[in-house]
Amino acid sequence: MHLLEGEGVSIHFGGLAAVSDVSFYIDQGEVLGLIGPNGAGKTTLFNLISSCYVPRPGILKFKGKNITGMSPYKICRLGIARTFQTVKIFANMPVIDNVRIGSLFGNTRSPASAEANQQSIELLEFVGLSRVMNTPARDLTLANQKRLEVARALATKPELLMLDELMAGLNPTEVAQAMDLVRQIRDKGITIIMIEHVMKAIMSVCGRIIVLHHGQKIAEGTPQEIANSKTVIEVYLGE
Ligand SMILES: Nc1ncnc2c1ncn2[C@@H]1O[C@H](COP(=O)(O)OP(=O)(O)OP(=O)(O)O)[C@@H](O)[C@H]1O
Ligand SMILES: [Mg+2]
Repeated sequence: MHLLEGEGVSIHFGGLAAVSDVSFYIDQGEVLGLIGPNGAGKTTLFNLISSCYVPRPGILKFKGKNITGMSPYKICRLGIARTFQTVKIFANMPVIDNVRIGSLFGNTRSPASAEANQQSIELLEFVGLSRVMNTPARDLTLANQKRLEVARALATKPELLMLDELMAGLNPTEVAQAMDLVRQIRDKGITIIMIEHVMKAIMSVCGRIIVLHHGQKIAEGTPQEIANSKTVIEVYLGE
């Protein structure tokens, strides 16, 4: 059984087929890359998986259970967490409270306040933000705000973590650090789907890659297969 499976997942916005008949799966332990040109439907697919939108038509299954149309908060408590392309932190709250929110509201059994606190401290250490724990989240650099979103997502104890352009806007050193972070999350046994335009990161971290273009899946394979795909080179990678 796949961890997550989509069958013929589609959504239209007016006349635009943002995601069109996309079937896919991700198995436990994988790091799956999702790539494609701007407007290809990558973020929309994340929005469908996290149930911000309901596919029409299409079916989503998590560990064999049909989760199509389930409320986003239930999807989260079931074990699917995400970060956002444009960071959606609680800007005026201290860094640690952002993570506590994930812990307190993103789990089926809400932990006691002290436990949530302890978990949040450990997660902030894990992502390298313990020194700025009490800083208002708005004062962090973009790279650190993105790490904060990762910590908040991890606080919900996901089995599947969806990262939407974690590395966009980061300098080369920060990209390398973010790649390390992704590998460390994988090593905790958490399955990852990541959207990324930073090819170096995608190619070295992902075991398998899916390519979207105009809402459709146009290719799927190992990094090597994708890098050599004529179709993918034509529509996205270039010569
Ligand atoms: N809520 C919405 N209403 C109308 N159109 C939408 C909505 N959400 C997304 N779209 C459109 O769907 C298409 C796919 O958008 P999406 O954000 O999924 O692309 P993307 O692959 O994530 O691109 P990028 O790499 O630029 O982030 C775009 O044309 C976008 O304008
Ligand atoms: Mg996007």
